Formats: sequence, C-alpha cells, structure tokens
Amino acid sequence: MRLFDEFKTEHLLVDRVAGSLIRFAELTARGQTSAEDAADFVHFFRVFVAGYHHEREEKTLFPALVERAEVPGDRGPLPSIEADHREASALVDEFEEASGNPGKAGGIARRLAHHLWEHVDKENSVLFPESFERLRRNGVTRLEGREPTAEERAARDLGEKLTERFPPLDDPEVVRGDGCIACSAFGETCGGIETEWWTTWEREYRRTLDEG
Ligand SMILES: [Fe+2]
Ligand SMILES: [Fe+2]
Repeated sequence: MRLFDEFKTEHLLVDRVAGSLIRFAELTARGQTSAEDAADFVHFFRVFVAGYHHEREEKTLFPALVERAEVPGDRGPLPSIEADHREASALVDEFEEASGNPGKAGGIARRLAHHLWEHVDKENSVLFPESFERLRRNGVTRLEGREPTAEERAARDLGEKLTERFPPLDDPEVVRGDGCIACSAFGETCGGIETEWWTTWEREYRRTLDEG
C-alpha cells in the first residue's frame, strides 16, 4: 500500500529534522541562530508535517481503519495519535513564540524533538504494521493519499535544507524504543494495542504463534 511507504519515507525526514532541532538548541545557546532559522523550522512543521503528513494520517488512514477494518475510532491508539498531533502543533506554536529568546527556544526545540521521535517510533513499530495487517485482512490492498501541493513540496525541501544547515544530533538524554511499552500514552489514555484492537481469537492465534 503506497500510503504506508510514503509515511515511512516522510518519517525519515521528520526524524532527521528532529535531530536538527537538537543542533539548533545547542547553537541557539551560543547565540549562533537567527529568527529566520526558527521561522524555517516552524514553516516545515506547519506546512509539511501538520498540513500534509498528519493530515493524511488522520483523513485518509484513520477513516479507512474505522470504516473498513473495524478499528475503534473513539478510544485507544487513534485518539492518542490525534492528541500527539495536537501536542506537536502546540509545541510548534510555543517554539515560534519563544524565538528571539534563546534561553527558552532551545528548551522547547528539545521538547519538540523528543516528542517527534517518540511519535515516529510508535507509528513505525505499532500503528503502521498493525494497520497494514488489519486493512489487508479486511480486503483493503490499496490506500493512497493525495499528492503534495507545490507549497508542501517546497516545505519538504526546506526540511532537507534544514538538515544540511543544522546537521542532526542525537540527544543522549533520550532512550528510544519500540512497541506500546515505549509510548507515554500506554496505561494513561490507551490500554495498548492488544487490549484496544485485538479480538479474542487474535490473542489466541498470536499466543499459538509465540508458543511455536
Ligand atoms: Fe502521526
Ligand atoms: Fe507519522
């Protein structure tokens, strides 16, 4: 399904631009960034990530899961992913407001990077494989989003340029991980994929597989 391939490719860029935010945070502490740099990050996140990437997750993938693959839309992973998207947008707003205040902007840049890494990891390790499998089992083998507009393409290119201007860094404070266990919503607003999505027969079937 082409949509999943596109999402995963887009995640590679989001992951790297998140690393660029860490570099930005380091440079901003030394007074080596400009308001224009911050504005470029904001533009990339608003136009390409929220406006194109998150939009297709919420408007193309989620309805297909709810309407065609018996996935609950009112609890579990889907609302928690939507809440993540809102949180990312709020952090981008905060980052924009803090630009010009190096002490504050660096801290928000780091928080945004950590948020994006966790988000990409939970989608790559849980949401996408589980969604793909469910759609396929329900006979959905084609899923396509829309093409990016010229502005969205330009914003994606701007993201690539940001990774050249601010070579991505890891953050040693962050431990990344796969699966529900690494997700901050687990046990808070979401009971995890097994509880929220799996049916009784599915749990039985997976247990048989695990037992070999
Ligand atoms: Fe997402
Ligand atoms: Fe995503």
